Amino acid sequence: MFKLAHISDIHLGPLPPVSKRELVSKRITGYINWKRNRSKHQDQNITASLLKYMNSLNPDHQIITGDLINLGLDSEIENAQKWLEKSFAPRDTTVICGNHDAYVRGSLAKAFKAWSPWVVGDKNKPIKTDKDFPSVRRRGKISIISCNSARASAPFLATGYFKYDQAIRLKEILEVERKTGQCRIVIIHHAPFPNATHKHKRLLGLNNFLQVIKTEGAELILHGHTHLDTHSKIKGPDSDVPVICVPAAYQWAGHKKPASGVNIYNIEKSDKTWQIEVERHGLLKDTDTNFSLINKTKF
Ligand SMILES: [Fe+2]
Repeated sequence: MFKLAHISDIHLGPLPPVSKRELVSKRITGYINWKRNRSKHQDQNITASLLKYMNSLNPDHQIITGDLINLGLDSEIENAQKWLEKSFAPRDTTVICGNHDAYVRGSLAKAFKAWSPWVVGDKNKPIKTDKDFPSVRRRGKISIISCNSARASAPFLATGYFKYDQAIRLKEILEVERKTGQCRIVIIHHAPFPNATHKHKRLLGLNNFLQVIKTEGAELILHGHTHLDTHSKIKGPDSDVPVICVPAAYQWAGHKKPASGVNIYNIEKSDKTWQIEVERHGLLKDTDTNFSLINKTKF
């Protein structure tokens, strides 16, 4: 059995000092939002406790589906690199980027470079742009297929992008991995199903993604972005494909969205089909440090 852990939307805090020059951009709205909401909470304790709890579950591999940072600042990218170095072995952890990692033009390329050991596929080909996705990491019979939906967007927008050329490459990869009997786990930051979010946060090019999955299928799709604990599905060639999100790592108990958590996927093959069980683990009420199993679902 392979045990895969999934966390997302870390939004590492506290915010490092921001210069006036850095704020003259889309960052000003994000900065005001941060000051209004996050700065009042000691949510760094929650993220640290989440990592400790996740480690205690002994996963074989960990997935982080984007938004490691907030405003795409150079100092944040550097802090996130240190955070990754401290807690995550690159071979056992796969990271993709989210819209906050691509907050302003230029941020995404810097993040790819700094976080490269956790982002690159097995071939170690440097990742510079969208064109370098999807990348693939095989861990035994499990294939983690990383898609990129992050791109800088205009102020007040948090849209993702999944263009036709990435869809073509995804289809080819899914076909190869299927033919070699791999369990295909597709990861993408933005929610890849209809009506998942408000219009200003949606995935543009969603139909490109849906069409590929409808034709080629996948065993599991993981995403972040909405900060919710949803379990949706989209059409595959023979049956529906589960699409699962996990709450943001920093969310405190009592937040308007579900409290911080980690999902564990227990994956094994039986009778030629992949069996996947998802365990949802979350932060307990009135605490910043205690996590526990919430429920289990098999599909
Ligand atoms: Fe986020």
